[in-house]
Amino acid sequence: MTSATCGRGASSDRPSMSDLLLGTFASRALVGKTCIVTGAGSGMGRAVARRFAQSGARVVMADVRSDAVEATGRTLRDEGADLEPLAVTVDLAGVDGCAALVERAVAASGRLDAVVNCAGVGGMIGTAQRQVAEGGGPPIGRIGEPDDAAGCALFLVSDAAAYVTGITLFMDGGAAVSR
Ligand SMILES: NC(=O)c1ccc[n+]([C@@H]2O[C@H](COP(=O)([O-])OP(=O)(O)OC[C@H]3O[C@@H](n4cnc5c(N)ncnc54)[C@H](O)[C@@H]3O)[C@@H](O)[C@H]2O)c1
Repeated sequence: MTSATCGRGASSDRPSMSDLLLGTFASRALVGKTCIVTGAGSGMGRAVARRFAQSGARVVMADVRSDAVEATGRTLRDEGADLEPLAVTVDLAGVDGCAALVERAVAASGRLDAVVNCAGVGGMIGTAQRQVAEGGGPPIGRIGEPDDAAGCALFLVSDAAAYVTGITLFMDGGAAVSR
């Protein structure tokens, strides 16, 4: 198992260059993988859960807010997730909750390939958001959206990133390099 803030599992079914060029990569990049997404009731976690389900993963969604995580589960089902998504209501502030979540995921599908941690207490202001607040903006011309995080997570969890490990991937619209 690997984790994300992001990671990936192993598979021989890597996307070919033609798949990448034809744009079919995202639609099957996570087939056969089981991925936990925390904070899936809102924001980035919700966007990651949707993108992963669209890419063929079995998604185990976790959030402390039952109504929110169940709503994400309904959305994934309505959008035609290949595999039944699992919505788990759990407080991940403690070790016990985290262990119980992993047990649920493995019990449900017999494997766990990646964990994307988006649960957290809001309030952090990223570099791009700070630049906007200060009257500037990131070079790319907009602030980041939850789906931008989903795209980064999809890449890191997929086999396309099989030789990537131990890195920090900056998702800031170019803000850091323009300072
Ligand atoms: N570094 C940055 O620049 C940056 C930018 C934006 C957000 N963030 C951080 O990323 C995280 C996600 O951001 P978001 O905008 O998606 O936030 P969000 O508030 O929309 O979603 C967070 C989700 O986590 C859940 N959650 C909170 N505490 C939990 C717990 N103990 N157990 C289980 N679930 C819990 C919430 O119920 C919520 O659904 C936050 O921690 C935020 O501070 C960092």
